[in-house]
Amino acid sequence: MIEELFDRLPKRRGWQPVLPGNRTGAFGNFRLVRAAQSHDIPWMTKFDLRRQDCIRAMSRLADASVDLVVTSPPYNLGIRYGQYSDRQDRRSYLGWCGDWARQIRRVLKSNGSFFLNIGAAPSNPMLPHEIVMTLREFLVLQNTIHWIKSIAIDTNEGKTDARHPHLNPLIAPPGRDPNPDAERRVRVEGGLKTFGHFKPINSPRFLNDCHEYVFHFTKSGCVELNKLALGVPYQDKSNIARWSHTRGKDLRCRGNTWFVPYETIQSREKERPHPATFPVQLAEWCIKLHGASRVRSMLDPFLGIGNSAVAAQGCGVKKFIGFEIDDAYLAEAKRRIVNARGLGSRK
Ligand SMILES: C[S@@+](CC[C@H](N)C(=O)[O-])C[C@H]1O[C@@H](n2cnc3c(N)ncnc32)[C@H](O)[C@@H]1O
Repeated sequence: MIEELFDRLPKRRGWQPVLPGNRTGAFGNFRLVRAAQSHDIPWMTKFDLRRQDCIRAMSRLADASVDLVVTSPPYNLGIRYGQYSDRQDRRSYLGWCGDWARQIRRVLKSNGSFFLNIGAAPSNPMLPHEIVMTLREFLVLQNTIHWIKSIAIDTNEGKTDARHPHLNPLIAPPGRDPNPDAERRVRVEGGLKTFGHFKPINSPRFLNDCHEYVFHFTKSGCVELNKLALGVPYQDKSNIARWSHTRGKDLRCRGNTWFVPYETIQSREKERPHPATFPVQLAEWCIKLHGASRVRSMLDPFLGIGNSAVAAQGCGVKKFIGFEIDDAYLAEAKRRIVNARGLGSRK
């Protein structure tokens, strides 16, 4: 009976009546809610994931067909991937970087963004900058973002929220190693605390490496960003009235230092079976900074285990294209996308 009445209700375009939770109400208990649209459902992303060499695969994509590229190539630091050999001579490595970057330039739209994550090593400190010098022949470096993986902060002032276990190693669940692949050194002196994870470098010469770069390239250097999508509140609220550009809002640009810790995991093999990943959140921030609603088509030519794809799904990107040469990583990427879809979240 209720269902019949439900069918007879007038339906406005884009809106639909819903039954109340207990399904016993009278006619007046129906509510009109906006019908779910594709951008309301983050798992509507269409995926095109292939086990292919990315240069060859990109050469088949149309010119100016991609709004956003978020990727992290192998760094030529001798990392032990499943299939790929990460040790080439420098010149041929940089030549190869030029080859894939040229394809990215070709497929990127004129107002598109290309976020390139690169790390260095004490043995190879200039590598990120050499790659940038290679790419600047045909792309413009619009922003340099520092991805901070771990940081020590004096919390004496009581201004740091250290309650989240991902952020504060001090409150990780007792009796279990929250991140077996990274040693965490937690020093607490007064209010000094270390947040996030890092791999210690055992050398009297070199500092622990707690950051990587995210280079933001565009074709023109003039692509407008959605800076407030990652905005943070003003510490000093008097700034809201002082600066006209705030338009009265308590939101300012976060800047180019992004603290994005790796998620705490219990088993590397099961939860992160890849030697060089970035967190889903890092890719999400790139999408949001470019403007999630502007991204119809996103590409990651070096997909790995699919963190960029999970981010795309979480942000409601319409179409995601990913290439990876390693079968096992590609299978894991697909598993993680399905898993994230099941959870209805990005994790
Ligand atoms: C730094 S990892 C990317 C990790 C990824 N961002 C993630 O979070 O899972 C680089 C990946 O590129 C893959 N790769 C290397 N050469 C490739 C090529 N020519 N085409 C496609 N993928 C390649 C490697 O197998 C590796 O998984």
